[in-house]
Amino acid sequence: MALIKQQVANIQEKRGVQIRDTKLQSPASTTTAATRSFPMVGFDVELIEIMERLTTQESARKILPIVGMGGIGKTTLAKNVYDNLYIVHHFHIRIWVTISQDYRVRDILLEALKCVGKTDVDKKLLTVSDQMSEASENELGSLLYKSLWGRRYLVVMDDMWSVEPWDNVKMFFPDNSNRSRVVMTTRLSDMTIHLGPSAFQMNFLDKEKSWELLRRNVFKQTPYPMESEEIGKKIAINCRALPLSIVLVSGILANSKQTEEQWEYVAENLQSILNLEDHEHCLNILSLSYNYLPVHLKPCFLYMGVFPEDENILCPNLLWIRVDSS
Ligand SMILES: Nc1ncnc2c1ncn2[C@@H]1O[C@H](COP(=O)(O)OP(=O)(O)O)[C@@H](O)[C@H]1O
Ligand SMILES: [Mg+2]
Repeated sequence: MALIKQQVANIQEKRGVQIRDTKLQSPASTTTAATRSFPMVGFDVELIEIMERLTTQESARKILPIVGMGGIGKTTLAKNVYDNLYIVHHFHIRIWVTISQDYRVRDILLEALKCVGKTDVDKKLLTVSDQMSEASENELGSLLYKSLWGRRYLVVMDDMWSVEPWDNVKMFFPDNSNRSRVVMTTRLSDMTIHLGPSAFQMNFLDKEKSWELLRRNVFKQTPYPMESEEIGKKIAINCRALPLSIVLVSGILANSKQTEEQWEYVAENLQSILNLEDHEHCLNILSLSYNYLPVHLKPCFLYMGVFPEDENILCPNLLWIRVDSS
């Protein structure tokens, strides 16, 4: 991976390709909010519960942590809440910031201002955003503070690794006792100790929903063969009902022969991964996805590792890296 990063850094230098990776070039550490909703399987009860918690009558600003292991669907659920029409109408302004482990306060403020600019009715902030790259952290912060003043806002801070990012920016988010809310997603249950007892704990999908997720990813909208159901359910269970694992394995199944033997083979392979620790389990499923790729696509898979999590990857960037390295 170090080699690939070095290679990518060289290509960036040659091409001027903009790829954000904190370790490569200490660039921005947050990513833009994708406003599209992911098609979500299940989580209906969870969605409603979170929306209820976000829209209570309590006027003081509240923090709602969403906690669960990596790949369980925290970002997916938070994004579906964020884009839900009821939430869109309830809050004057919605802000989404993805926090990386090497976050920078400045990038959080810039991302927040971009979101404010998008929702700002009179578009005053959009013109300001052109000059923002020159502004100091304090200038950005005070601009954010002013633009949020008196408005009911929802902030989602996705993938927090500590409360520090929030501690460093919270003075720029005014608390006007107008039912503003902050959602933080995290895989670290310890983090919620600092945030009060209100954390929302994510659960795994049940057996039926796991199968539905697998089925939808493999067969899309087309009808699925009945004989795939039994073995498909077995595979979904072997993925420990973890959405990330199910999505990865669906990719393998969708691109391999749709025969019972092939599915049995995948199920058997997963069986051996089943007894491993969570971390190893994910890594092994990931390596399975890699092993099943055709040779010419394997480097592409590896190059994904240089992009921050939840980053929107522009195809031309990936293509340049690929062309330059071959
Ligand atoms: N309920 C769901 N329905 C459909 N896809 C899901 C669901 N939950 C998670 N996923 C998929 O699983 C993967 C991991 O989910 P993500 O929300 O990124 O997990 P986390 O944020 O907890 O690490 C993503 O590809 C996401 O699209
Ligand atoms: Mg996430």
